[in-house]
Amino acid sequence: MDDFIAGLPKCELHLHIEGTLEPELKFRLAERNGIELPHATVEEARAAYSFDSLTSFLVGYYESMDVLRTEPDFYDLAYAYLAKAVSQNVRYAEIFFDPQAHTSRGVPFDIVIRGLRRAILDAERTLGIRAQLIMCFLRDLSAGYAMATLMESLPYREWIVGVGLDSDERGNPPVKFEQVFARARQEGYLLTMHCDVDQENSVTHIRQCLDVIGVDRIDHGVNALDDSSLVEEIQRRGLGFTVCPVSNGFVTDGIKAEEIRRMLDLGLRVTVNSDDPAYFLAYVTENLQAVHQALDLTTGDLARLEQNAFEISWLPRAVKDGYLAELTDYTRTQG
Ligand code: HPA
Ligand code: ZN
Repeated sequence: MDDFIAGLPKCELHLHIEGTLEPELKFRLAERNGIELPHATVEEARAAYSFDSLTSFLVGYYESMDVLRTEPDFYDLAYAYLAKAVSQNVRYAEIFFDPQAHTSRGVPFDIVIRGLRRAILDAERTLGIRAQLIMCFLRDLSAGYAMATLMESLPYREWIVGVGLDSDERGNPPVKFEQVFARARQEGYLLTMHCDVDQENSVTHIRQCLDVIGVDRIDHGVNALDDSSLVEEIQRRGLGFTVCPVSNGFVTDGIKAEEIRRMLDLGLRVTVNSDDPAYFLAYVTENLQAVHQALDLTTGDLARLEQNAFEISWLPRAVKDGYLAELTDYTRTQG
């Protein structure tokens, strides 16, 4: 089964590019930029960073980003992720980036997006992987700052497929960003939002995503299972979930495998993703393996997870169909 998982053509839909900053690259960028890090070695840095909740995770997460300063830094970050993804047979990735985590430190929006975009174009050409960018707003900052960031993104509109919402959900409900997301919709962006797991008011927040924001997809979102009317509405709209099991295992009480099983059984379009793989030590293959170990998935279940992912991806229909055919071919010959 490990071989089947390794070879499966994959689609990654919940991946923060800043969360792919491996300590080795962090040290290299620090040196290149003349930044002194608080820890002498990669091992020391890893050992010093501990967290058990979304809030505590985010502290070290944002601190680490200080090494990202120049266009080549963002290029190297994204290219390294895409090369790693290719090694796991990821065929297509939708990549979140957090411009405000950089503009708030004085790094221009233009530097961030140009580096990421150049890496995607190079990787498409040289590695054969395809990728698109999703711009996330930081929900613990003001709606005004999110709106200003949305406006700043408009000249780069063709390089961004949609917008999302991440960072600390506590006290920062979807409705806080109602106007920002309405404007993003008007500008032609697709919409998603983090509905982090086991947060205060999770069900209310997911309900707001449906009724107020009108999301096209839900990031995480397993607490929808707590409310049967939510489940019905999500089924009716055919919305997908980007679940991140190993990440959930770090910041909640488990990897939520049973919830993934229930979602599959309900015919919900659930997918398995990696979130912040450099921090949670698991890229998409390891996430699929973790769920398989917990649930003893069949090859059909595993193929279904990737089928769901290509289906709910923000690709043109014809491109999706190409990947789905590849997947069908793989399961027919290897399954
Ligand atoms: N949730 C919220 N914010 C984040 C996450 C997440 O899973 N990963 C990186 N920033
Ligand atoms: Zn996330």
